[in-house]
This record gives sequence, C-alpha cells and structure tokens, in this order.
Amino acid sequence: MATLEQKPRSCVIIALLLVMVSLSRAVLDAHYYDQTCPQAEEIILQAVQNATRHDPKVPARLLRMFFHDCFIRGCDASLLLDSTPGNQAEKNGPPNISVRAFYVIDDAKAKLEMACPHEVSCADVIAIAARDVVAMAGGPYWNVLKGRKDGRVSNASETINLPAPTFNVTQLLQSFAKRGLGLKDVVALSGGHTLGFSHCSSFEARLRNFSSTHDVDPTFNHAFAQQLKTECSKPNRDRNAGQFLDATSSTFDNDYYRRLVAGEGVFGSDQALYSDYRTRWMVNLLAQDQSLFFSEFAASMVRLGNVGVREVGEVRIKCRAVN
Ligand code: HEM
Repeated sequence: MATLEQKPRSCVIIALLLVMVSLSRAVLDAHYYDQTCPQAEEIILQAVQNATRHDPKVPARLLRMFFHDCFIRGCDASLLLDSTPGNQAEKNGPPNISVRAFYVIDDAKAKLEMACPHEVSCADVIAIAARDVVAMAGGPYWNVLKGRKDGRVSNASETINLPAPTFNVTQLLQSFAKRGLGLKDVVALSGGHTLGFSHCSSFEARLRNFSSTHDVDPTFNHAFAQQLKTECSKPNRDRNAGQFLDATSSTFDNDYYRRLVAGEGVFGSDQALYSDYRTRWMVNLLAQDQSLFFSEFAASMVRLGNVGVREVGEVRIKCRAVN
C-alpha cells in the first residue's frame, strides 16, 4: 500500500517540480519587441539621454532603480507603482526615498504608448534604461533580454529586504543568494557604485562611535574618514550633504574598486568586499582590469534582470498604476 500511495505522490512531486522549473527559468528574449515595437529601445534611449542632458544625476538614479526593483518581487516594476490611500508602495519604503527620476520612465513610457500601445512593459523599460545609462557613462553595452510583465503588488514594508550599507560579506551573499545570485554577482554589481552619490545618513555610523573599541571604522583610510567627517558634520544641518561613491562619479569605470583597495569605500558593505578574503581577490582583479569589470558587470546585470521575472501578467499603460 505504501508504494501505491507513494507512486501518485511522486508523480505529483515530479509534476510540481517541472512547473517550478518552468516558472523559475525566465524565457526572456533579446528580440522580444522586434515585431511589435521595433523602435522601443530607441525611444527609451532618447528619453534617458534627454533627461541626462538636463540633470546629470539621472544615470545613477536609474541604475539604482533597476537594482531596487529587481530585489523586491523580482524585476516587475513594482517600484514604479504609486502609493494609494489603502497602500504604501515600495517607492515610499525608507531605502527608496532617495530613489528618484521616475519621471524619466514615465516620459519613455508615454512615448512608447503613442508608438506601440500596450506592448512594452514598465519592467522592460527600467532594464533597458539601466543598460543605457551604463553605456552612456562609458561602461559596457549588452543586449537586454525582454518580455517581462508588470506586477500588480507593491508594499513599502518589503523594502526591508533590500541589503543595508552596514552588511558584511556573509549578509550580502545571503541577500543575493535569495535571488539566485552569487558572490561574483555581489562583487561585480556593487561596482554600480562607480556612479552616483550617498547621503551622510547611509555611512555616518562608520565615522563616530563605530564600536566599543573603535570610534571610526578601522577599515577606513584615515585621511578619507577625516574628509567625510568634515562633510558630514555633527549636528548635520545640511540634509543634502554626502559623498560621491568614487572619485569619478559620473564615469562608469573601475575606480570604485581602486577606492576599495585604498580604504576609501563609502559604505561598510563596499569596504567589506576588500576586508573579506572571499572577495578581496576579486576586488584586486577588477581594480587592475577594467575590461574584466565591464564583462563581469554586464553578465551580472543580465542575471539581475532575470530575477523573479514574470512572463504572464499585464503590460501597464501607465507605470505608476495597475491597469
Ligand atoms: C550590494 C548591496 C548594496 C547596498 C548595501 C547599497 C546601498 C546603497 C546606498 C545606501 C546608497 C546611497 C543612498 C543615499 O544615501 O542616497 C546607494 C547608492 C547607489 N547604489 Fe547601491 N547598494 C548596493 C548595491 C547596488 C547595486 C547592485 C547597484 C547597481 C547595479 C547599485 C547602484 C547604486 C547607485 C548608482 C547609487 C547612487 C544613487 C544616486 O546617486 O542617486 N547599488 N546604494
């Protein structure tokens, strides 16, 4: 009797496994819009270029937007949904308050809706825009796989699952592993910090009363820590004060890794990549070889773009609201 019972049960398990495998393997396609909206990528690029001409902060913001979207509920544009009277959306969660430039996606999407209505998902717009800003800033270019559908759920409370700038390598790895990403991805994608800026609040815990034995995080280069202390004076009256994440913050290059080698990583989570033996060797390699960084970053961005992708669902008409 036990085997008779087991047989149907094992059939069910195999069937379930097959369903799970087919659900977890994203079948995205570089040519997804070739027939339905061949001009999609050109329209998005123009919107991104236009916005960047007016505001040089746009590239960093769009790159970070892609990461934050993919890490919560997968790359489904849940980050773009506005809060409603009954629901606080992801974009209002604490780590996303400083994610801006949503208007660039709105602009691209409005033009897409005119050119090819209801075809191009908001999730794909973010993925393409993130690739474009990297290439525009001098970084690598890669073919973006497309065909993501847009989610209908967005909760501010879930943003607690984004990695924190205080994380060590074990915590970073755990966070990335939950999304099917590995240590190589942690190191390569952290290189996204070659662009952009951080407010003092994201790193000032490293500057004063750091631990019972050290006032300042000992992994900091001393002179750099002093510079940051001046920038982030206490009491900090300037809410906009902060620090660029590497010395060439609008150029996509490998200076970020050279900063880590010099003890000038801005976040604890950045500098940890150099302190931990599991990742230090990768940081050293990427600091020496920019083309290696470019190829690793591009490959990891493609993997990031596969996280939690949904292939059934809706293409939002406006990225800020479900249809
Ligand atoms: C590994 C874990 C990561 C942590 C803990 C982290 C944390 C942070 C924090 C705290 C900020 C500053 C926010 C502020 O104060 O305004 C920031 C900025 C930024 N992050 Fe990350 N990040 C991580 C990974 C990534 C990844 C994977 C990317 C993209 C591939 C990325 C791209 C950026 C960019 C471009 C900025 C600058 C944004 C701007 O200038 O507006 N980060 N990150």
